[in-house]
This record gives sequence, C-alpha cells and structure tokens, in this order.
Amino acid sequence: MRLSYRDQGQGQAIVFLHAFPLDQTMWDEAAAALSRDRRVVTFDWPGFGQSPSTASDSAATGLDRMVADAIQLLDHLGLNQVDLCGLSMGGYVALALYRSFPERVRSLVLCDTKATADPPATREARREMAELVEREGTATLIPLMLPRLLGASTRRRPEASLTDRIAGMIQRSDPEGVTHALDAMATRTATTDLLGSIQVPTLLIVGEEDIISTPEEMKEMAEAIPHARLQVIDQSGHLPNLEQPTLFLEALRSGLP
Ligand code: MLT
Repeated sequence: MRLSYRDQGQGQAIVFLHAFPLDQTMWDEAAAALSRDRRVVTFDWPGFGQSPSTASDSAATGLDRMVADAIQLLDHLGLNQVDLCGLSMGGYVALALYRSFPERVRSLVLCDTKATADPPATREARREMAELVEREGTATLIPLMLPRLLGASTRRRPEASLTDRIAGMIQRSDPEGVTHALDAMATRTATTDLLGSIQVPTLLIVGEEDIISTPEEMKEMAEAIPHARLQVIDQSGHLPNLEQPTLFLEALRSGLP
C-alpha cells in the first residue's frame, strides 16, 4: 500500500475522501473528534499530501482509478463496509464508488459536491489549469483557489492560520497528481441517474455560501435520493469542515447511523 493513510480509533469505520487540491489533513479536526468512538481512516490521493503521484497500483484511469485506490485501501485495512464521507472531489469519488461497490458502503456523507458532470466550459478551464500547473507549479493555484474555496463570511474575517493551512496543502501537492485529478474530474460521468437508487442513509452537507457546489444544487440532489437529509452550514463556503468545524461535526454526527 503506497498511499499515505491514517487509521485511528476503534469500532464502526468511517473513511474520509479529501477535496481538490488539498490533502487528508483537512479532516484533522473531524478525525480527532470521531476517533474517540469510531475507527477513522483518512488518506492522501496520489500526488497530494504525503502520497507520491505514483502511489496508485491501478491500471484504470480518471475517477475509476481513484475508486480503485480507495477500494484497495479498504481491502488492505480489512474493511468490508464503511461509512463513506467525501467532500467535493471526494464526493464525486464516493458516488462513483457507491455505483460500482454498493456493498462496501453502509452510509454516505456527501459534502459540497454534485452529481452532474462538468459542462464544456469547466472542462476547458480545468485543461488550462493543468497547463498552468505544469508550467508554473502548484503554488500558482493558491491565489486562484482560496477565494473560491472560502465563503464570503470567512474571507471577511480571515484567519491567517486557516489560509496558511490551506495554502500549505495546495503547495505540497505535486503537479502530476494535480493534473491527474483535474483530468479525473473533467472526464467523470454524471451520477444523477444513480441518486434515485441509493439505498443507504445519506447525509448531504453544504456551506450556505458555497459557490462551487451550491446549496441549490445540493438541495436538488437531496430531493433525488430516497433516504437523504440536507444540512446547510451557516457562514461557510466550500470547506465547512475547516470554516465551521464545530457546526460541521454536529451535522456529521447527527447523520451517521
Ligand atoms: C474540490 O473542492 O474538490 C474541487 O473544487 C471540486 C471541483 O473543482 O469540481
């Protein structure tokens, strides 16, 4: 297993899938709190955090490779069925994983994510971003991403510790991992057709000021999933687990079976 992962606590397992272009440390607060009474697994996608960009053993490409990486980690840890929580890109993978391996998922937590595929303009923007990162490195993403990731309320009262922490995650990512993730997101297929057949308890969480995956989009998703509930987190953008960690944790705990 070449993916860098953390496995803490005991009991029913919850596995967290991190967002783009961050790493597993975005889950530190949630992992510390939940691992008191659960088993909590976090990991870095290839090319993010401590996982080398060559960490995948799968011959698959795109989002399928990320699904294969997550399943390989579950197998490695002997986890047959888990609560699966993904934020944004992590949510795209969670839905794709549920489509192919529903028996591995006990419940879903989908945070600030969507079931639709990228429209052409977004695909083109991702291609341009990949070229930029190849030319200038991943730090070039910091000023582009921060204002989109953080909500207006967080930006009005910026905490250097939070912005530095997010910038650090972006800076640590590797251009190859970033370009692969951009391609995986751009080529992903929609999972809108899957929503009506999701059979497990599903909690959706969204920051009320999220401009990447909006509350309106997540409300539509929640309405399409049979056993779903939506929690909107006040005064938060795309990263409620970092912008409003206490509210996020309350919402998460309320939704876990
Ligand atoms: C993420 O937070 O994972 C990304 O912003 C998602 C995206 O770009 O679609």
